[in-house]
Amino acid sequence: MRFPFHYSTLLLPLVMACSTPDQPSLPPGASADAASIVDAEALRQQALAFFHPLPEVVEHPAGPDTPEKVALGYKLFLDPQLSEDGTISCNSCHKLDHYGVDNSPTSIGVRGQHGGRNSPTVFNAALHNMQFWDGRATDVEQQAGMPMLNPVEMAIPSEAFIVKRLKTVPDYPTLFKVAFPADKDPLNFANICEAIGAFERTLLTPSRFDDFLKGNTTALTPAETAGLSTFLEVGCTNCHTGTAVGGTMLQKFGVHQDFRQWTGSAASDEGRKQVSGAEADRDLFKVPALRNVTKTAPYFHDGRVAQLDSAIRIMATVQLGKELTDPQLNDLKTFLEVLTGAPPKTAATSGPSL
Ligand code: HEC
Ligand code: HEC
Repeated sequence: MRFPFHYSTLLLPLVMACSTPDQPSLPPGASADAASIVDAEALRQQALAFFHPLPEVVEHPAGPDTPEKVALGYKLFLDPQLSEDGTISCNSCHKLDHYGVDNSPTSIGVRGQHGGRNSPTVFNAALHNMQFWDGRATDVEQQAGMPMLNPVEMAIPSEAFIVKRLKTVPDYPTLFKVAFPADKDPLNFANICEAIGAFERTLLTPSRFDDFLKGNTTALTPAETAGLSTFLEVGCTNCHTGTAVGGTMLQKFGVHQDFRQWTGSAASDEGRKQVSGAEADRDLFKVPALRNVTKTAPYFHDGRVAQLDSAIRIMATVQLGKELTDPQLNDLKTFLEVLTGAPPKTAATSGPSL
Protein backbone atom coordinates (compact mmCIF):
# COMPACT_ATOMS: atom_id res chain seq x y z
CA MET A 1 0.00 0.00 0.00
CA ARG A 2 1.51 3.32 -1.02
CA PHE A 3 0.58 6.62 0.63
CA PRO A 4 2.39 9.44 -1.08
CA PHE A 5 3.81 12.06 1.25
CA HIS A 6 1.68 14.91 -0.06
CA TYR A 7 -1.50 12.90 0.50
CA SER A 8 -0.80 12.35 4.18
CA THR A 9 0.35 15.94 4.64
CA LEU A 10 -2.90 17.21 3.18
CA LEU A 11 -4.87 15.00 5.51
CA LEU A 12 -3.05 16.08 8.61
CA PRO A 13 -4.87 19.34 9.35
CA LEU A 14 -8.13 17.47 8.94
CA VAL A 15 -7.04 14.80 11.38
CA MET A 16 -5.89 17.39 13.87
CA ALA A 17 -9.07 19.38 13.51
CA CYS A 18 -11.39 16.52 14.22
CA SER A 19 -9.44 14.43 16.68
CA THR A 20 -8.44 17.01 19.28
CA PRO A 21 -11.83 17.89 20.78
CA ASP A 22 -12.91 14.25 20.82
CA GLN A 23 -9.86 12.80 22.52
CA PRO A 24 -10.91 10.22 25.10
CA SER A 25 -9.69 11.26 28.53
CA LEU A 26 -10.75 8.19 30.52
CA PRO A 27 -8.10 6.44 32.58
CA PRO A 28 -6.83 3.09 31.28
CA GLY A 29 -9.23 0.24 31.91
CA ALA A 30 -12.27 2.51 32.48
CA SER A 31 -15.41 1.08 30.92
CA ALA A 32 -16.26 2.57 27.57
CA ASP A 33 -19.47 4.57 27.61
CA ALA A 34 -21.58 5.22 24.54
CA ALA A 35 -19.89 8.55 23.78
CA SER A 36 -16.39 7.10 23.78
CA ILE A 37 -17.50 4.26 21.48
CA VAL A 38 -18.67 6.89 18.99
CA ASP A 39 -15.34 8.72 19.40
CA ALA A 40 -13.44 5.48 18.88
CA GLU A 41 -15.33 4.86 15.64
CA ALA A 42 -14.47 8.37 14.40
CA LEU A 43 -10.83 7.74 15.31
CA ARG A 44 -10.93 4.37 13.53
CA GLN A 45 -12.13 6.11 10.36
CA GLN A 46 -9.25 8.62 10.61
CA ALA A 47 -6.77 5.81 11.20
CA LEU A 48 -8.01 3.92 8.12
CA ALA A 49 -6.73 6.78 5.97
CA PHE A 50 -3.21 5.74 7.01
CA PHE A 51 -3.26 2.09 8.11
CA HIS A 52 -4.75 -1.23 7.13
CA PRO A 53 -5.20 -4.44 9.09
CA LEU A 54 -2.64 -7.16 8.38
CA PRO A 55 -3.60 -9.70 5.74
CA GLU A 56 -3.28 -13.47 6.47
CA VAL A 57 -0.23 -13.65 4.23
CA VAL A 58 1.57 -11.22 1.89
CA GLU A 59 0.78 -12.73 -1.48
CA HIS A 60 3.51 -13.18 -4.05
CA PRO A 61 2.64 -11.13 -7.14
CA ALA A 62 2.94 -14.31 -9.23
CA GLY A 63 0.30 -16.11 -7.12
CA PRO A 64 0.00 -17.87 -3.76
CA ASP A 65 3.02 -19.73 -2.37
CA THR A 66 2.48 -23.39 -1.51
CA PRO A 67 2.94 -24.83 2.01
CA GLU A 68 5.84 -26.88 0.60
CA LYS A 69 7.66 -23.73 -0.54
CA VAL A 70 7.04 -22.04 2.83
CA ALA A 71 8.30 -25.10 4.76
CA LEU A 72 11.45 -25.28 2.62
CA GLY A 73 12.03 -21.55 3.20
CA TYR A 74 11.73 -22.08 6.94
CA LYS A 75 14.35 -24.85 6.86
CA LEU A 76 16.72 -22.69 4.79
CA PHE A 77 16.19 -19.72 7.11
CA LEU A 78 17.44 -21.74 10.07
CA ASP A 79 20.28 -23.50 8.24
CA PRO A 80 23.89 -22.33 8.98
CA GLN A 81 25.03 -24.18 5.84
CA LEU A 82 23.91 -21.05 4.01
CA SER A 83 27.13 -19.43 5.29
CA GLU A 84 30.60 -20.24 4.03
CA ASP A 85 31.96 -21.66 7.29
CA GLY A 86 28.67 -23.18 8.41
CA THR A 87 28.30 -20.96 11.50
CA ILE A 88 25.70 -18.32 10.60
CA SER A 89 22.08 -18.67 9.50
CA CYS A 90 19.50 -15.99 8.71
CA ASN A 91 18.19 -16.78 12.19
CA SER A 92 21.52 -15.73 13.79
CA CYS A 93 20.69 -12.08 13.11
CA HIS A 94 16.91 -12.34 12.69
CA LYS A 95 15.99 -14.61 15.60
CA LEU A 96 12.49 -15.92 15.11
CA ASP A 97 12.03 -16.30 18.87
CA HIS A 98 13.17 -12.66 19.43
CA TYR A 99 10.76 -10.85 17.13
CA GLY A 100 13.02 -11.31 14.13
CA VAL A 101 16.02 -9.34 15.47
CA ASP A 102 19.23 -9.94 17.44
CA ASN A 103 18.83 -6.91 19.76
CA SER A 104 22.44 -5.83 19.04
CA PRO A 105 23.40 -2.40 17.68
CA THR A 106 25.10 -4.14 14.74
CA SER A 107 25.16 -7.85 13.92
CA ILE A 108 27.98 -10.36 13.90
CA GLY A 109 28.54 -12.34 10.72
CA VAL A 110 31.07 -15.05 9.80
CA ARG A 111 34.45 -14.97 11.61
CA GLY A 112 33.13 -12.48 14.18
CA GLN A 113 32.87 -9.61 11.68
CA HIS A 114 30.56 -6.67 12.44
CA GLY A 115 28.55 -4.89 9.75
CA GLY A 116 27.72 -1.20 10.11
CA ARG A 117 23.95 -1.44 10.39
CA ASN A 118 21.29 -2.70 12.78
CA SER A 119 19.36 -5.79 11.67
CA PRO A 120 15.73 -4.88 11.11
CA THR A 121 13.02 -7.40 11.94
CA VAL A 122 11.95 -9.91 9.31
CA PHE A 123 8.45 -9.89 10.84
CA ASN A 124 6.06 -8.04 8.51
CA ALA A 125 9.01 -7.05 6.28
CA ALA A 126 7.35 -8.65 3.23
CA LEU A 127 4.80 -5.81 3.39
CA HIS A 128 7.42 -3.11 2.78
CA ASN A 129 7.67 -1.43 -0.61
CA MET A 130 11.45 -1.89 -0.45
CA GLN A 131 14.00 -3.76 1.67
CA PHE A 132 17.06 -2.59 3.67
CA TRP A 133 17.59 0.73 5.44
CA ASP A 134 18.43 2.29 2.07
CA GLY A 135 15.76 0.45 0.06
CA ARG A 136 18.30 -1.21 -2.24
CA ALA A 137 16.28 -4.43 -2.69
CA THR A 138 12.74 -4.46 -4.00
CA ASP A 139 11.23 -7.45 -2.21
CA VAL A 140 12.04 -10.25 0.23
CA GLU A 141 12.93 -12.67 -2.59
CA GLN A 142 15.55 -10.32 -4.07
CA GLN A 143 16.78 -9.41 -0.59
CA ALA A 144 17.33 -13.05 0.50
CA GLY A 145 20.23 -13.63 -1.89
CA MET A 146 22.21 -10.63 -0.69
CA PRO A 147 23.24 -11.65 2.87
CA MET A 148 24.39 -15.05 1.60
CA LEU A 149 26.84 -13.39 -0.80
CA ASN A 150 27.81 -10.55 1.57
CA PRO A 151 31.43 -11.11 2.73
CA VAL A 152 30.73 -9.75 6.23
CA GLU A 153 27.50 -11.68 6.75
CA MET A 154 27.43 -15.23 5.31
CA ALA A 155 30.36 -14.94 2.85
CA ILE A 156 29.22 -17.54 0.32
CA PRO A 157 31.73 -17.06 -2.54
CA SER A 158 29.27 -17.52 -5.43
CA GLU A 159 25.75 -18.59 -6.35
CA ALA A 160 27.16 -21.81 -7.87
CA PHE A 161 28.99 -22.61 -4.60
CA ILE A 162 25.84 -22.71 -2.45
CA VAL A 163 23.82 -24.61 -5.09
CA LYS A 164 26.55 -27.24 -5.34
CA ARG A 165 26.74 -27.56 -1.56
CA LEU A 166 22.99 -27.94 -1.00
CA LYS A 167 22.81 -30.62 -3.73
CA THR A 168 25.00 -32.80 -1.49
CA VAL A 169 22.92 -32.23 1.66
CA PRO A 170 20.34 -34.97 2.35
CA ASP A 171 16.69 -33.93 1.86
CA TYR A 172 17.32 -30.69 -0.05
CA PRO A 173 17.19 -32.15 -3.61
CA THR A 174 13.82 -33.79 -2.81
CA LEU A 175 12.44 -30.78 -0.95
CA PHE A 176 13.25 -28.44 -3.86
CA LYS A 177 11.59 -30.89 -6.28
CA VAL A 178 8.43 -30.91 -4.17
CA ALA A 179 8.43 -27.11 -3.70
CA PHE A 180 9.12 -26.35 -7.39
CA PRO A 181 7.46 -29.27 -9.24
CA ALA A 182 7.40 -27.47 -12.62
CA ASP A 183 11.18 -26.85 -12.72
CA LYS A 184 13.59 -29.22 -14.52
CA ASP A 185 16.52 -28.32 -12.26
CA PRO A 186 14.72 -26.99 -9.16
CA LEU A 187 17.70 -26.61 -6.82
CA ASN A 188 19.05 -23.30 -8.11
CA PHE A 189 19.95 -19.96 -6.52
CA ALA A 190 16.75 -18.18 -7.59
CA ASN A 191 14.64 -20.90 -5.98
CA ILE A 192 16.63 -20.72 -2.71
CA CYS A 193 15.64 -17.04 -2.60
CA GLU A 194 12.05 -17.77 -3.69
CA ALA A 195 11.56 -20.33 -0.89
CA ILE A 196 13.03 -18.04 1.80
CA GLY A 197 10.84 -15.21 0.51
CA ALA A 198 7.75 -17.44 0.61
CA PHE A 199 8.48 -18.19 4.28
CA GLU A 200 8.99 -14.50 5.07
CA ARG A 201 5.64 -13.67 3.45
CA THR A 202 3.99 -15.64 6.27
CA LEU A 203 5.79 -13.80 9.11
CA LEU A 204 2.95 -11.50 10.12
CA THR A 205 2.12 -10.47 13.68
CA PRO A 206 -1.54 -9.50 14.15
CA SER A 207 -2.30 -7.41 17.25
CA ARG A 208 -5.24 -5.70 18.90
CA PHE A 209 -4.58 -2.75 16.58
CA ASP A 210 -5.74 -4.97 13.70
CA ASP A 211 -8.90 -5.92 15.61
CA PHE A 212 -9.54 -2.21 16.12
CA LEU A 213 -8.96 -1.35 12.46
CA LYS A 214 -11.28 -4.18 11.41
CA GLY A 215 -14.13 -2.60 13.39
CA ASN A 216 -13.87 -3.77 16.99
CA THR A 217 -13.66 -0.31 18.54
CA THR A 218 -13.40 -1.69 22.08
CA ALA A 219 -10.25 -3.68 21.19
CA LEU A 220 -8.15 -0.72 22.43
CA THR A 221 -8.36 0.78 25.92
CA PRO A 222 -9.12 4.51 26.22
CA ALA A 223 -5.42 5.11 26.94
CA GLU A 224 -4.49 3.28 23.74
CA THR A 225 -7.00 5.17 21.60
CA ALA A 226 -5.57 8.37 23.11
CA GLY A 227 -2.15 7.09 22.04
CA LEU A 228 -3.30 6.49 18.48
CA SER A 229 -4.92 9.91 18.43
CA THR A 230 -1.63 11.56 19.50
CA PHE A 231 0.32 9.57 16.89
CA LEU A 232 -1.98 11.01 14.19
CA GLU A 233 -2.09 14.50 15.67
CA VAL A 234 1.65 14.96 16.19
CA GLY A 235 2.31 13.93 12.58
CA CYS A 236 4.17 10.62 12.94
CA THR A 237 1.88 9.38 10.16
CA ASN A 238 3.54 11.79 7.70
CA CYS A 239 6.08 9.00 7.39
CA HIS A 240 5.06 5.94 9.44
CA THR A 241 2.04 4.87 7.45
CA GLY A 242 0.70 1.80 5.63
CA THR A 243 -0.12 -1.70 6.83
CA ALA A 244 3.23 -2.18 8.61
CA VAL A 245 3.12 1.39 10.09
CA GLY A 246 6.17 2.21 7.96
CA GLY A 247 8.15 0.59 5.18
CA THR A 248 6.47 2.57 2.41
CA MET A 249 9.00 5.33 1.67
CA LEU A 250 12.48 6.77 2.05
CA GLN A 251 12.78 9.99 4.04
CA LYS A 252 15.59 12.25 5.12
CA PHE A 253 16.72 11.50 8.68
CA GLY A 254 17.24 15.00 10.06
CA VAL A 255 14.48 17.15 8.53
CA HIS A 256 14.75 19.88 11.20
CA GLN A 257 18.07 19.14 12.92
CA ASP A 258 21.23 17.12 12.39
CA PHE A 259 20.31 13.70 13.82
CA ARG A 260 23.97 12.86 14.50
CA GLN A 261 23.98 15.41 17.35
CA TRP A 262 21.39 13.24 19.08
CA THR A 263 22.48 9.73 18.10
CA GLY A 264 26.26 10.11 17.86
CA SER A 265 26.09 8.26 14.50
CA ALA A 266 29.12 8.15 12.24
CA ALA A 267 29.10 10.53 9.29
CA SER A 268 30.17 7.74 6.97
CA ASP A 269 26.73 6.10 6.55
CA GLU A 270 24.89 8.40 4.17
CA GLY A 271 21.94 6.09 3.55
CA ARG A 272 20.48 6.07 0.06
CA LYS A 273 23.34 8.19 -1.31
CA GLN A 274 25.58 5.13 -1.01
CA VAL A 275 23.31 3.33 -3.48
CA SER A 276 22.54 6.14 -5.94
CA GLY A 277 25.58 8.40 -5.58
CA ALA A 278 23.21 11.39 -5.74
CA GLU A 279 23.87 14.25 -3.32
CA ALA A 280 20.10 14.71 -2.96
CA ASP A 281 19.93 11.22 -1.43
CA ARG A 282 22.30 11.99 1.44
CA ASP A 283 20.87 10.71 4.74
CA LEU A 284 17.74 9.31 3.12
CA PHE A 285 16.74 6.16 4.96
CA LYS A 286 13.75 3.86 4.73
CA VAL A 287 11.06 4.81 7.21
CA PRO A 288 11.08 1.66 9.34
CA ALA A 289 7.90 -0.20 10.18
CA LEU A 290 6.87 0.26 13.81
CA ARG A 291 5.02 -3.02 14.38
CA ASN A 292 6.75 -4.82 17.31
CA VAL A 293 9.05 -1.81 17.83
CA THR A 294 8.93 -2.28 21.63
CA LYS A 295 10.70 -5.63 21.08
CA THR A 296 13.31 -4.59 18.50
CA ALA A 297 15.71 -2.31 20.40
CA PRO A 298 18.24 -0.84 19.86
CA TYR A 299 16.95 1.75 17.40
CA PHE A 300 17.84 3.49 14.14
CA HIS A 301 19.91 2.25 11.20
CA ASP A 302 23.04 1.89 13.33
CA GLY A 303 21.37 0.83 16.59
CA ARG A 304 22.84 3.82 18.42
CA VAL A 305 19.81 4.51 20.61
CA ALA A 306 18.91 1.90 23.22
CA GLN A 307 15.72 3.33 24.73
CA LEU A 308 12.39 3.68 22.92
CA ASP A 309 11.60 6.89 24.88
CA SER A 310 14.75 8.49 23.50
CA ALA A 311 14.03 7.28 19.97
CA ILE A 312 10.53 8.83 20.11
CA ARG A 313 11.82 12.15 21.46
CA ILE A 314 14.56 12.27 18.81
CA MET A 315 11.96 11.63 16.10
CA ALA A 316 9.73 14.48 17.29
CA THR A 317 12.65 16.92 17.53
CA VAL A 318 14.61 15.94 14.45
CA GLN A 319 11.82 14.95 12.04
CA LEU A 320 8.96 17.21 13.14
CA GLY A 321 10.67 20.11 14.96
CA LYS A 322 8.48 19.50 18.02
CA GLU A 323 9.25 19.03 21.71
CA LEU A 324 6.95 16.40 23.17
CA THR A 325 5.26 16.92 26.54
CA ASP A 326 5.55 13.99 28.97
CA PRO A 327 1.87 13.01 28.45
CA GLN A 328 2.41 13.04 24.66
CA LEU A 329 5.48 10.82 25.02
CA ASN A 330 3.47 8.41 27.19
CA ASP A 331 0.62 8.38 24.68
CA LEU A 332 2.99 7.56 21.83
CA LYS A 333 4.62 4.77 23.79
CA THR A 334 1.25 3.34 24.76
CA PHE A 335 0.25 3.29 21.10
CA LEU A 336 3.52 1.66 19.99
CA GLU A 337 3.03 -1.06 22.62
CA VAL A 338 -0.29 -1.98 20.99
CA LEU A 339 1.63 -2.74 17.79
CA THR A 340 3.32 -5.72 19.46
CA GLY A 341 1.63 -8.71 17.91
CA ALA A 342 1.50 -12.43 18.34
CA PRO A 343 4.61 -14.13 16.90
CA PRO A 344 3.69 -15.81 13.61
CA LYS A 345 2.55 -19.43 13.78
CA THR A 346 4.98 -20.41 11.03
CA ALA A 347 7.90 -19.19 13.18
CA ALA A 348 7.14 -21.55 16.08
CA THR A 349 10.27 -23.39 17.24
CA SER A 350 8.94 -26.65 15.85
CA GLY A 351 8.28 -25.00 12.47
CA PRO A 352 5.81 -26.04 9.83
CA SER A 353 5.86 -29.76 9.07
CA LEU A 354 7.89 -30.74 6.03
C1 HEC B 1 25.18 -11.19 10.00
C2 HEC B 1 23.83 -10.81 10.28
C3 HEC B 1 22.77 -11.07 9.23
C4 HEC B 1 22.51 -12.25 8.57
C5 HEC B 1 23.25 -13.56 8.66
C6 HEC B 1 21.33 -12.00 7.76
N1 HEC B 1 20.90 -10.71 7.93
FE1 HEC B 1 19.26 -9.89 7.13
N2 HEC B 1 19.87 -8.07 7.72
C7 HEC B 1 20.97 -7.82 8.52
C8 HEC B 1 21.23 -6.40 8.56
C9 HEC B 1 22.34 -5.71 9.33
C10 HEC B 1 20.27 -5.80 7.72
C11 HEC B 1 20.16 -4.31 7.36
C12 HEC B 1 21.26 -4.04 6.33
C13 HEC B 1 21.05 -2.77 5.54
O1 HEC B 1 19.97 -2.19 5.57
O2 HEC B 1 22.00 -2.36 4.85
C14 HEC B 1 19.41 -6.88 7.23
C15 HEC B 1 18.28 -6.71 6.44
C16 HEC B 1 17.38 -7.73 6.14
C17 HEC B 1 16.06 -7.56 5.59
C18 HEC B 1 15.41 -6.22 5.27
C19 HEC B 1 14.38 -5.86 6.29
C20 HEC B 1 13.95 -4.41 6.20
O3 HEC B 1 13.12 -3.99 7.01
O4 HEC B 1 14.44 -3.68 5.35
C21 HEC B 1 15.52 -8.81 5.42
C22 HEC B 1 14.14 -9.14 4.87
C23 HEC B 1 16.52 -9.76 5.84
N3 HEC B 1 17.63 -9.06 6.29
C24 HEC B 1 16.41 -11.13 5.73
C25 HEC B 1 17.51 -11.99 5.85
C26 HEC B 1 17.55 -13.36 5.36
C27 HEC B 1 16.43 -14.06 4.64
C28 HEC B 1 18.78 -13.87 5.68
C29 HEC B 1 19.36 -15.22 5.33
C30 HEC B 1 19.46 -15.54 3.92
C31 HEC B 1 19.49 -12.80 6.37
N4 HEC B 1 18.70 -11.68 6.44
C32 HEC B 1 20.74 -12.93 6.93
C33 HEC B 1 21.70 -8.77 9.19
C34 HEC B 1 21.77 -10.11 8.79
C1 HEC C 1 9.71 12.92 8.20
C2 HEC C 1 9.54 11.48 8.37
C3 HEC C 1 9.34 10.93 9.76
C4 HEC C 1 8.49 11.37 10.75
C5 HEC C 1 7.53 12.54 10.71
C6 HEC C 1 8.65 10.45 11.86
N1 HEC C 1 9.56 9.49 11.54
FE1 HEC C 1 10.17 7.97 12.77
N2 HEC C 1 11.56 7.46 11.40
C7 HEC C 1 11.77 8.05 10.16
C8 HEC C 1 12.98 7.52 9.56
C9 HEC C 1 13.55 7.90 8.20
C10 HEC C 1 13.52 6.61 10.49
C11 HEC C 1 14.81 5.82 10.32
C12 HEC C 1 16.00 6.67 10.75
C13 HEC C 1 17.30 5.92 10.66
O1 HEC C 1 17.58 5.16 11.57
O2 HEC C 1 18.02 6.07 9.69
C14 HEC C 1 12.59 6.58 11.63
C15 HEC C 1 12.78 5.78 12.76
C16 HEC C 1 11.88 5.71 13.82
C17 HEC C 1 12.02 4.83 14.95
C18 HEC C 1 13.11 3.78 15.14
C19 HEC C 1 12.61 2.45 14.63
C20 HEC C 1 13.64 1.38 14.55
O3 HEC C 1 13.25 0.22 14.29
O4 HEC C 1 14.84 1.63 14.71
C21 HEC C 1 10.95 5.07 15.79
C22 HEC C 1 10.64 4.38 17.11
C23 HEC C 1 10.16 6.12 15.18
N3 HEC C 1 10.75 6.48 13.99
C24 HEC C 1 9.01 6.66 15.74
C25 HEC C 1 8.44 7.84 15.28
C26 HEC C 1 7.42 8.57 16.00
C27 HEC C 1 6.79 8.12 17.31
C28 HEC C 1 7.14 9.67 15.26
C29 HEC C 1 6.23 10.82 15.63
C30 HEC C 1 6.66 11.54 16.83
C31 HEC C 1 7.98 9.61 14.06
N4 HEC C 1 8.75 8.50 14.13
C32 HEC C 1 7.97 10.57 13.06
C33 HEC C 1 10.95 9.00 9.59
C34 HEC C 1 10.01 9.75 10.28
